[in-house]
Amino acid sequence: MKTRETWGTRAGFILAAAGSAIGLGNIWRFPGEAYEFGGGAFLLPYLFAILTAGIPLLLLEYTIGRKYRLGPPSAFRSIYRPAEGIGWWQNAIAFFLATFYAVIIAWALSYVFFSPSLAWGDDAGAFFGVEYLRAGEPLDFFEYRPAMLGALAAVWAVVLLIMAGGVRKGLELANRICIPLLLVLFGVVVVRALTLEGAAEGLNAFFTPQWDKIGDYEIWLAAYAQVFFSLSIGMGTMIAYSSYLKKHSELSTTAVTVGFANSSFELLAGIGVFSVLGFMSGEADVPIDQLVGTGGGVAFVTFPTILSQMPGGAFIGVLFFATLVVAGITSLISMVIVPFSSFEDRFGWSRKKSVLVLGLPMAAFSLLIYPTANGSSMVDAVDFAVSGYGLVLGGLATIVLAFATGKIKALAAEANRTSMLKLGNVWYTCLALTAVVLVYTLYKSIQGQIADLSDPDVPNELIYINWGVGGAMILFGVVMTAVLYRRPIPERVEEAAAAAA
Ligand code: TRP
Repeated sequence: MKTRETWGTRAGFILAAAGSAIGLGNIWRFPGEAYEFGGGAFLLPYLFAILTAGIPLLLLEYTIGRKYRLGPPSAFRSIYRPAEGIGWWQNAIAFFLATFYAVIIAWALSYVFFSPSLAWGDDAGAFFGVEYLRAGEPLDFFEYRPAMLGALAAVWAVVLLIMAGGVRKGLELANRICIPLLLVLFGVVVVRALTLEGAAEGLNAFFTPQWDKIGDYEIWLAAYAQVFFSLSIGMGTMIAYSSYLKKHSELSTTAVTVGFANSSFELLAGIGVFSVLGFMSGEADVPIDQLVGTGGGVAFVTFPTILSQMPGGAFIGVLFFATLVVAGITSLISMVIVPFSSFEDRFGWSRKKSVLVLGLPMAAFSLLIYPTANGSSMVDAVDFAVSGYGLVLGGLATIVLAFATGKIKALAAEANRTSMLKLGNVWYTCLALTAVVLVYTLYKSIQGQIADLSDPDVPNELIYINWGVGGAMILFGVVMTAVLYRRPIPERVEEAAAAAA
């Protein structure tokens, strides 16, 4: 029998939860999504989703984690035996998300080193696509790009080192160092951005609502998906993190604090990015909407272009890309913890064993597939299945399970044991409403994809990869449940202690 680690302090958990939430999603994903889905009009569904779906689900995951103090599969099994599969399915999602998320951090890490000399020269687009990624065809597997390979190996080395340190000496310590660092780095970048000429133009583009879009289900699905990604919910990350809480830790104010910190950072990132785009639009005399690409485009093409033109650009470049790296690492460890906690609790593995048997193969898969000629195509294809659908479905499954098993009241009571804000009807209503909105938007979206299949303009490969990866992840959950159905969860010392208390 083994004892299980806990967070050392309340601040330690809050920092870790905020560190998980604040990541590439805030800086790299949010501004592009917001712009694409209606600018100011996106903010309305986004805020709605934060308040009615994000924070309530955060609380649900915290409560499940603290109540059962087990990684996701075992926690779900404790709620309802056949539900163990939800946890294993989330393991599969975590595997894919972590292995590509690390790649974007690696790009940023390379750019920290490109920044001092503004190595991209006059054409940042060509530098990123042709010189750095040297992107080939979508099916050019295994043609390696050494610079990217090296950066990616460094990212995984740091992550596995943190994981090897365990909860207090690994996760907690890393977040204690990284979060303050992040605030300083990012603060300087945003202040510089806001003082650029033309910043106001950019902010107008960002905040001006395109009201005609507000009725589209796509906006709503995108807003919910962004909130799930940004708050790290739907994948069991928060179940895993809160499973290391002490029994009496407060939950409700923590959820509100983390939600608020994350959204503030996200809006600040949007403000920073769009101020810079406003400056660029003025300099280059190009309308803003032609500057905004997808996430990768803004961070690795538009931004470097601007850095070359702006006074102090090399310095700001180092800070900006370092911000991405630091924010990304504290999120990546919170993805890797999902399989680590799952296997440790389900099979009694030690942390050392997890690093060797889970961590190294994850790193190897990531290094094998992505730093290659087709790496960025693979990132897009997997991102679509994971961020667009996986998380939202994972969150939906958690809600449905809590209600269908009738455990929702017991969970509320468990949270209320220590919470300042009492969970009750408002919480139930928000969760139920979230389930309804998600079922509806997913239904519409699947209908849309089926229609796309017969549209000659949309490449079917992307849809097939999306369904293939999605289906494979669910299959993994089903198989693991069947295999482990009769096998009990190993006992732990503190359970005996809790039973005695
Ligand atoms: N929230 C992080 C970001 O904004 C990403 C992340 C970390 C995540 N852990 C997660 C997303 C778990 C979904 C699930 O970049």
